[in-house]
Amino acid sequence: MTDQLAPTRVAAGQPPSVRDGLGEQLAWLRRMRAEHPVHRDEFGHYHVFGYDDVQRVTKDPGVFSSNPARVLPEGVPNMTEGMMLVADPPKHSKLRRLAAQAFTPKKMRDLAPRVTQIANDLIDRAPGDEFDFVEHFSLLLPATVISELFGIPAEDVELFRRVVEQIMAIDPPNLTDEAAVRGSAETALGGPFMELMGYLLQLCAVRRIDPRPGLISDLLQAELDGQRLTDQEVASLAVQILQAGHLTTSAVLSHSILLLDEHPEAAAELRANRALIPAAVEEVLRCRPPSTRLQRYTTGDTEVAGHPIPANSVVVPWMLAANHDERVFPEPDRFDIHRNPNKHLSFGHGIHFCLGAMLARVEVVGALNTLFDRFTQLRVAPDQTVQFQETHLLFAPERVAIQVSRA
Ligand code: HEM
Repeated sequence: MTDQLAPTRVAAGQPPSVRDGLGEQLAWLRRMRAEHPVHRDEFGHYHVFGYDDVQRVTKDPGVFSSNPARVLPEGVPNMTEGMMLVADPPKHSKLRRLAAQAFTPKKMRDLAPRVTQIANDLIDRAPGDEFDFVEHFSLLLPATVISELFGIPAEDVELFRRVVEQIMAIDPPNLTDEAAVRGSAETALGGPFMELMGYLLQLCAVRRIDPRPGLISDLLQAELDGQRLTDQEVASLAVQILQAGHLTTSAVLSHSILLLDEHPEAAAELRANRALIPAAVEEVLRCRPPSTRLQRYTTGDTEVAGHPIPANSVVVPWMLAANHDERVFPEPDRFDIHRNPNKHLSFGHGIHFCLGAMLARVEVVGALNTLFDRFTQLRVAPDQTVQFQETHLLFAPERVAIQVSRA
C-alpha cells in the first residue's frame, strides 16, 4: 500500500512536475521537509513544508496575508480585489459571515438525496461499459450540484461548466513576473470571467424580482448589521464559490477512483462496509489534495522555523507536504482507509478553511455509494497512462478511462 516513489531525481529549486504522477514530487517534498523546512526558490518565493509550519502560515492572516496586492507589479490590475478567498480581516470576516448564511451545514447535508439522483442520472447517460470517468461523471456531478444550489436553470449548466473550466485553465502566473501577470489578467478579463459575471448579474436582477430557492436568492437576502450585498458582490461571491468548488471536487472524485483501483483490497472493504466510505474519502483527500499548496504574502519581516522571511514576500505553504509529515501521520505514504486521526490540511486551515468542505464530502461520499450500487465491477482501463493537469491551483487527472460491469 505504498505510493510509488521514484528514485530521488530531485532538483533543488523547483518542485518536480506531477504530470505523470506524484512520486517524484513526494520524494522532493520529503527531502525538503527534512533538509530545508523553509526553501527560497529562484523567484524569491519561500516554500514551507512541515505540518506545524504550514498551519502557522495559514492561521495568522495578520502576518501572512491572503491578499496579493502587496506583491503585484505596479499598475497591474488586482483581479482578485473584493474576493473572500484573498481578503483579510475585517473584510474577510464580513464576506464569510454573509456567505455562510447561505451555506449552512444543514442545507449542504440536505442535498445528499439529490446528489445520489444526479449520480444515478449520470451513470444512466454514460456511454456503454467503457468511458472516460472525468468527462462523463466527475466533471458533471459537481457542476450540476453547484448550479442547482445556485438556482441556475438546467439549460444553462453546460454554459457554466465551460466558462468555469476556461477560467480555471488560466494558469496563475508567477506574481513577480510583470508580463505574465498582465497577460493572464487580460486573458481572464477579456473572456470567460466577464461572460460569467455578466450572466450572474443578469440572474441577480431576475432573482430580485422573482426570488426562487437557491444560493443566489439567499445571498441577495443575507443581511449583516442591516447591510445587504449588492448584485455585483453577490455575482462576485458566486463566481468564487463556483471556482473553488467545481474542479476541486471533480479532482477528488477522479483521485478516489484511481486510488481505489491501485488498492483493490480497500475498494473491496468499502463495498462490503459502506460506513467506511467517509473515512476513505478523508484519506483520498490527505494523499491527493486537489490544491497541493496555497499562497500567502508577508505583511512585515517575520520568520518560520527560525528562517527569516522579509516583508512583502510570497510564501507557499504546502498542504501536500504537511499531509505527508511523518511526525503527524505514521507511514505517511501508505493509503490507509482506517487512518485515525486524519487531520489533513487539504481543506486549508484557519479563517479561510473551505466553506464548501461539507458539500464536497456529501458529494464524494454520495457518488462513491452510487458507483458501488450501480457497478458490480469498476476498474481503470489497464492499458492507459494517466496524465495529470497541473496548475498552481489544481492537481487533477485529465482523463480516467474506466471499464464497468453494470448491476
Ligand atoms: C474536495 C473539494 C475541495 C477542496 C479540496 C477545497 C479546498 C479548499 C481550500 C484549501 C481552501 C482554503 C484556501 C486558502 O486558505 O487560501 C478553500 C476555500 C474555499 N472553498 Fe473549498 N475546496 C473544495 C470544495 C469546495 C466546494 C464544493 C465549495 C463550494 C461550493 C468550496 C468553496 C470554498 C470557498 C468559498 C472558500 C473560501 C473560504 C474563505 O476564504 O473563507 N470549496 N477550499
